[in-house]
Amino acid sequence: MKVAVLGAAGGIGQALSLLLKTQLPAGSELSLYDVAPVVPGVAVDLSHIPTDVKVTGFGKDNLADALIGSDIVLIPAGVPRKPGMDRSDLFNINAGIVRNLIDAIADNCPKACICVITNPVNTTVAIAAEALKAKGVYNKNKLFGVTTLDVIRAETFVGNLKGLNPANVHVPVIGGHSGTTILPLLSQVEGVEFTAEEVASLTTRIQNAGTEVVEAKAGGGSATLSMGQAAARFCLSLVAAMRGDNVVEYTYVQTDGSDDAAFFSHPVRLGNNGVEEILSYGELSEFEQNAKESMLAGLRADIQLGVEFVNGK
Ligand code: 2OP
Repeated sequence: MKVAVLGAAGGIGQALSLLLKTQLPAGSELSLYDVAPVVPGVAVDLSHIPTDVKVTGFGKDNLADALIGSDIVLIPAGVPRKPGMDRSDLFNINAGIVRNLIDAIADNCPKACICVITNPVNTTVAIAAEALKAKGVYNKNKLFGVTTLDVIRAETFVGNLKGLNPANVHVPVIGGHSGTTILPLLSQVEGVEFTAEEVASLTTRIQNAGTEVVEAKAGGGSATLSMGQAAARFCLSLVAAMRGDNVVEYTYVQTDGSDDAAFFSHPVRLGNNGVEEILSYGELSEFEQNAKESMLAGLRADIQLGVEFVNGK
């Protein structure tokens, strides 16, 4: 198993790479790419951790070498938010970064599963899909927007509110990865009852959790450590599924024939070829149904922006 991390020297990239160095199966390879000159040092640093995972660093002129032979490519590259910014404010810089990285993936490891972390995820995943289509190598079963951070935040906040161990709480989160497009399905949390006020305030907190971190970091960036953990969980689930385990994760994927949006986070059964099956997210409460109806136009517009970025208007 070869896993490439593009943007490995950044805040998310370093946390993610550390978790993968310690948790990927024995015999795996971890390929770290970044435009920042510190990346070979990050690789040497990680290489001193005694696990059977080979780590190699690749600088800005060696993207192709970083990618060749990769089974999974994780993309946290890009700039993070500052206070007062929305994820969509990152569009101009990050869209171009994602486009270039995707073109290189298409040229060097077109069969890899691609996991997009770079914000705005609602849009960058659509950019990735269109860029891969332009190269003639798009496989909708192998492109994922990582929304696991919304799931782990929801689990943490519910656990803390209800005095439960968050590790044992499971909260479905559907939709996209920005503001109101993030839709936690609190009505489906097993064994836990919420008042209407709790549903309203927890939903808002989960939707704004990224901003909570941006404000607490006061200009120093956005979530890196929790995002690293979330992306590592998603990657390790994908690795386990590729090795035959039955794994379901919530992730932002292309959903054919759905009335929601062209990309929408669903529970997805993962397998050797990426998406094995997109599962239904089940019945929504009235609150959730209303929340979904009112965010769909925004999510569709986010996706359209990505389509136009690649194909023009
Ligand atoms: C977040 O939700 C960075 O998008 C990431 O905090």
